[in-house]
Amino acid sequence: MSKWHASTPIIAPSMLKCDFGNLSQEICRLESAGAFWMHWDVMDGHFVPNLSYGAMLIQSVRARTKAFFDAHLMISDPGKYLNDYIRAGCDAITFHIEAVSEPTALLRQIRSAGRLAGLAINPMTPPAVIEPYLSECDIVLTMSVEPGFGGQTFIPHVLDKIRRLKTLVGPTTLLSIDGGISQDNIRVAADAGCQVFVAGSAIFDESDYTLPLSILERLAKNTVDGASSP
Ligand code: DX5
Ligand code: ZN
Repeated sequence: MSKWHASTPIIAPSMLKCDFGNLSQEICRLESAGAFWMHWDVMDGHFVPNLSYGAMLIQSVRARTKAFFDAHLMISDPGKYLNDYIRAGCDAITFHIEAVSEPTALLRQIRSAGRLAGLAINPMTPPAVIEPYLSECDIVLTMSVEPGFGGQTFIPHVLDKIRRLKTLVGPTTLLSIDGGISQDNIRVAADAGCQVFVAGSAIFDESDYTLPLSILERLAKNTVDGASSP
């Protein structure tokens, strides 16, 4: 069991939705509100139709917090840039199965740098595409919206994919879900087997971050089988 399994459910604020004019302050506010895992959405305007930020920005705030940095690369040709995100101090690096023809070497490169290796899968991509590589993954991130923008509506049919992945991954792999997570759906996602919940709007649309973080965590703990309840 990895160190992070003991901390699940993990609510991971999606930094895409933060106020970038006050980035350091946003990180402080999140830490004070109890967040210890921050999700950095990297978009290249090519793999997804939006452009966000890259390794340089992440590196610029790395020293300001001890929080876990989870980089989600929504980019074409992730292999070309992996070392930049390793050097920037990301603790986990996740790239998309749709962006590569063979992910094994890249996943091993991330792991051999001592970081968690993640593969992400889009809502319309069948789980069979990712299944041969699950043993190489520390994180499997299921997108519950089409990647590219925050503030979209949760797509419920991805829960079937998560239920299937849950039966296939080993005990040390974390299942993450990303997109449209809210107080209305986090419990069904937890019931399906998710342990890491990326949330943008559900946190940053509120004026105080403590309350949404604690409500989301409580709802995610309250699974049907009670397995992760205290
Ligand atoms: C979408 C990103 C998500 C998104 C989450 O491409 O990967 O992390 O910003 O934001 P909400 O929770 O608003 O969907
Ligand atoms: Zn993301």
